Amino acid sequence: MTEEEAKVRIEELSADLNAHNHRYYVLSSPSISDYDFDQLLKELQGLEEQFPQFLDANSPTKRVGGDITNKFEKVAHAIPMLSLGNTYSEEELIDWESRNRKLTDDEIDYVCELKYDGVAIGIQYENGSFKRAVTRGDGSTGEDVSANVRTIKSIPLKLNGNFPEKLEIRGEIFFPLKGFQKLNEEREEAGEALFANPRNTASGTLKMQDSAVVASRSLDCLLYGVYADGFAAGGHFESVQAANSWGIKTPSVEKRYIQAAKDIEGIMDFVHYWAEARKELPFEIDGVVIKVNSYRTQEELGFTAKSPRWAIAYKFKTERVSTTLNSVAYQVGRTGAITPVANLEAVQLGGTTVKRASLHNADQIELLGIKRGDQVFVEKGGEIIPKVVGFDEDARTGNEEMIEFITHCQECETELVREEGEAQHYCPNLEACPPQVKGRMEHYISRKALNIDGMGEETIDQLYSEGLIQNVADLYDLTYEQIISLERMAEKSVNNLLAGIEASKQVPFEKVLYGLGIRFVGETVAKKLAKHYKNMAAIQAAELEDLVEVDEIGERIAQSLVQYFSKEENRTLVQRLQAAGLQMEILEQEGASEKLAGLSIVVSGVFEDFSRTELKNLIEQHGGKNVSSISKKTSFILAGDNMGPSKLQKAEDLGVEIKSEQDFKEMIS
Ligand code: IVH
Repeated sequence: MTEEEAKVRIEELSADLNAHNHRYYVLSSPSISDYDFDQLLKELQGLEEQFPQFLDANSPTKRVGGDITNKFEKVAHAIPMLSLGNTYSEEELIDWESRNRKLTDDEIDYVCELKYDGVAIGIQYENGSFKRAVTRGDGSTGEDVSANVRTIKSIPLKLNGNFPEKLEIRGEIFFPLKGFQKLNEEREEAGEALFANPRNTASGTLKMQDSAVVASRSLDCLLYGVYADGFAAGGHFESVQAANSWGIKTPSVEKRYIQAAKDIEGIMDFVHYWAEARKELPFEIDGVVIKVNSYRTQEELGFTAKSPRWAIAYKFKTERVSTTLNSVAYQVGRTGAITPVANLEAVQLGGTTVKRASLHNADQIELLGIKRGDQVFVEKGGEIIPKVVGFDEDARTGNEEMIEFITHCQECETELVREEGEAQHYCPNLEACPPQVKGRMEHYISRKALNIDGMGEETIDQLYSEGLIQNVADLYDLTYEQIISLERMAEKSVNNLLAGIEASKQVPFEKVLYGLGIRFVGETVAKKLAKHYKNMAAIQAAELEDLVEVDEIGERIAQSLVQYFSKEENRTLVQRLQAAGLQMEILEQEGASEKLAGLSIVVSGVFEDFSRTELKNLIEQHGGKNVSSISKKTSFILAGDNMGPSKLQKAEDLGVEIKSEQDFKEMIS
C-alpha cells in the first residue's frame, strides 16, 4: 500500500469507526456486529503502526487506552465552573420560580433536567476535534484528564455537522449502575475491597494514571451545558438539540431526561415524575435541575457569588426508614474476610422489602454506635445495597445489648485475626474453614478463571460434603464412578463435567494463577505477574523486594503472594496441579532474554526493519518496559525517522539518550 492509499484508508476507517461508535454508544442502535467492528479497528491499528505519520491523538484506536499520565496538568477554566443553589423543599422551588418572574419582564420558559450524580467535566473541541477534558477542580482551575476521557466511548472525538469552531461541552461523567455492579463483582472475586458507590468510583477512575484501566470501566457522560463563541442559539434547550446534531450524547427527550416547562406546574410535574421513576434509571441521580431556558433572560437574572440565579437543583431526600436490629450475622468470604450483616425486622424501602444490610466491618459498627435491639435507620440513597446509617436515641429502652464483634469464626471456631491498618477481620483457617474452602473452589471453576463447564456451586457443595474434594487439585483425581454416585447426577452430566475438567488443562497460565484465588491477585494482577515472571516457579521463588519492582505490584499484593507461597500446603497444591497437566508457564516467544531488564524505553518514529508494535514486543521480550511519554526516568528513546520535534526537544531538555534502530539491534543481539 502506498503512503497516499494508506492515508485515504485511515481516514475512511476512522470515519466509519467513529460513526459506528456514535450509533452504538450514543444512539444505542448499532448497525454492525462487535466482531466486524473489531476487524475494522484492527485494520486501523495495523495501518497506524505501519504509517505512524498519520496517527491522530483522536483516532478511534485511542479508545482502548494505554496512555499513562503521571501528572495531571492544571488548567484554568475560561468560564468558571460554578455549582448550583439547591433545595430539598417544594416551597422553596415555588419561591424561586416566582422570584424569577419578579426579576424580569421576559416571558420565562424553563428546561428541566436530571441531576446526574457523578463528576463534572468540561470537554473542549476545536474545529470539531476533541482537544482537552478538564475536571471542575476548585471551579476556576481544574486538571487535564484528556487521556482518560478519550476512553469514554459515548464522548465523540470528532464532531459532525455544523459545529462552532471553538466549543466547550460541560457535562457529568458517571458510572452506570450495571457496569458498577460488574466491577464490584470482579473485585469480590479477587478478594479486593468493594467500591462504596458509583459516584466516588467514577471520580477515582478519572484520576487513574493508566488510561487502559479507565477504558475497561464503562463510564458514561451526559451533557448539561454548551459554551461556544459566536454560536447563535437562543437558549439552553436549543443548544442541547444542536449538540445532539454534532454527535454529542444528550439527555433523551423521549425518556423525559430533559423536558421543557412553561410554568411551575410543568416543573412540578417533572419533579414528581422523577421522584418515583428515578428508581428505574440505569444510573444514579440525586435530584433534578431547573434552568431558565433563554440565554438573554439568564443574563438578566445573573449570578450570586457562587451560583447562577437562573438555575436551581431540587434534591430528592434519601429514603430512610427505621426498623429493629434483631441480630448481627457474620459472613465468611473466600479469602476469609468476615463481613458483619445486620438482620433487620423486615421493612419496606424504595419499593423492596429489606431484611438485611451490610455493616461492612467492626469499625463501622463502632462508628454507628448501634446496639442489638436498637431502632436503626436504614437508607437506600439510590445506592444498590441498603445501609444502616444510625439509630434512634429516643427509642432506646435500656434493654439494648452491645454488639461484641465475634472473636472466633462461627463456621470453624478458629480465632479471628485483624492485621494492623486493616478494617476487616479474617478467619485464618484457610485450609479447613468450609465457606473458604468451597469459596476458593467456586472461584477456581468460575468463568474468568478455569471456566470448568458443567460445574457449579451446587456440584462443589455436593462433592465437598461427600468428602470427594478438599481442594482444587482433587478435581483432577475425580473418577466417573465417584461422580455418578452423587444424588441427581446423570451419565450425561458426569461426562460433561469430566470433559470440563479435562479442558481446563489447556487454560492459559495467567488464568490458572488467577484461579488460585490468592488474596489481592485479581485478573489484571495475574496477567501482569504472568507476563513478568513467565512461569509459576519464578513467581513462587520471587522475594518481596523483587515483587514490588514489578509494574503495578504494590507492597500489599507482594506480601500476599509471599505469604501464600510460604505455606507448604499451597506449594503442594501447585505441584499437584502441575502434575495434573495444568499450564504453569506462558507460551514463550523464542529468543527472549533479560538484556533490557530495568530499562524504560520510549519508541518514536518510523523504522526500517520493524513496525512499532514489533519493536515494543521485542522490548518486552527482552525484559524492558515500554513507556509512552518521555520523563526523567526514561532510559532511552528508540528513535526512527520522523520523530516529532516536541519529543526531540523534550528528550534534549531532560538529557535522555536517543538510540537508533541499529543501536537497538546490537543491544538485543
Ligand atoms: S448545571 C452553572 N445541570 O451538579 C451551572 N449541573 O451543583 C452549571 N450536575 O457541578 C451546572 N447534573 O457537576 C447542571 N443537569 C445538570 C446537572 C448538573 C449534575 C452537577 C454538576 C455541577 C453540580 C452543581
